Amino acid sequence: MTVRAPAKINLQLAVGPRRADGYHDLVTVFQAISLYDDVTVTDAVDPGEDRVLVSGEGADAVPVGRDNLALTAAAALAQAAGLSRDLTGPIEITIRKRIPVAAGLAGGSADAAAALVACNDLWHAGLSQERLREVAADVGSDVAFALVGGTAVGQGRGEHLTPALVSGEYHWVLAVADGALSTPEVYATLDRLRAARDPQLAGPGSRPGSGTALAAGGAPDAALDHALMGALRSGEPAAVGQTLSNDLQAAALSMFPMLRKTLAAGRELGALGALVAGSGPTCVFLAAGAERAVDLAVSLSGAGVCRAVARAAGPVPGASITARTP
Ligand code: C5P
Repeated sequence: MTVRAPAKINLQLAVGPRRADGYHDLVTVFQAISLYDDVTVTDAVDPGEDRVLVSGEGADAVPVGRDNLALTAAAALAQAAGLSRDLTGPIEITIRKRIPVAAGLAGGSADAAAALVACNDLWHAGLSQERLREVAADVGSDVAFALVGGTAVGQGRGEHLTPALVSGEYHWVLAVADGALSTPEVYATLDRLRAARDPQLAGPGSRPGSGTALAAGGAPDAALDHALMGALRSGEPAAVGQTLSNDLQAAALSMFPMLRKTLAAGRELGALGALVAGSGPTCVFLAAGAERAVDLAVSLSGAGVCRAVARAAGPVPGASITARTP
């Protein structure tokens, strides 16, 4: 059973205050793009333990033990379906990576979403799409989006999804950085930057007498950018380019200063918009069309401001089965 799952980018990532559980309330606009991992799940040949094998882009950086997110997803699915793992037997998960690891593109979440779809089918678990999304949300904040794909507004931790109305196809150029960023550390840096700006508002519970997660952390409540949504509806890449935004960008830039150069290079080379992908360090550029994306990718490669350049179009569907093992 092989499932293909897409990377995501955030066209808007508005980060609200840190909550009492350590997560941040978000309003984000996700788009799934045509950069995929392939995840194959089969019954293990040898009895014993589950096994994870990873190949491709950044494979060495992916954990293959119990903390592998695809394996976590498989366990969560079995539990949600009331299936004992003694009954299902051990599985082998083979991940063919094309989505760069720890790059802000939700590659681990894509693999987890793929594992959910694959195990639901392999084990005839029969979970509905809605139930799968609930299980996905428990596995990670971005996993539910990797299931549904397309373009969607995410709220809460990012797991409450509403499909967005989008016209046209968007052509993206990705500048993959020579390095990685840890998502929790980028969020923590944002909290510190905000606290330094306004020490009165350092974080949840920091106001005397308050036991609740305050609308604090120096953060305004996150709100959807209606200019971006309008631009997406009318299918105008230039307007979309002008309205891209990411509240994590300042934190990512402070941790990875080289990204300023990368963003500046893309803008100078004619990108309609430029921003850091999620928690970074990948930078994303919007091109006016497919041909302009090719030109931009070539020029960006030549500029020596990143490790690798890739092109991808969006929106594309979420995790879907591409092959069934007989
Ligand atoms: O949910 P997930 O495991 O993908 O989140 C990774 C980390 O990113 C969390 O542990 C948290 O530090 C941060 N995060 C957050 N607020 C969100 C999503 C993620 O603070 N809405």
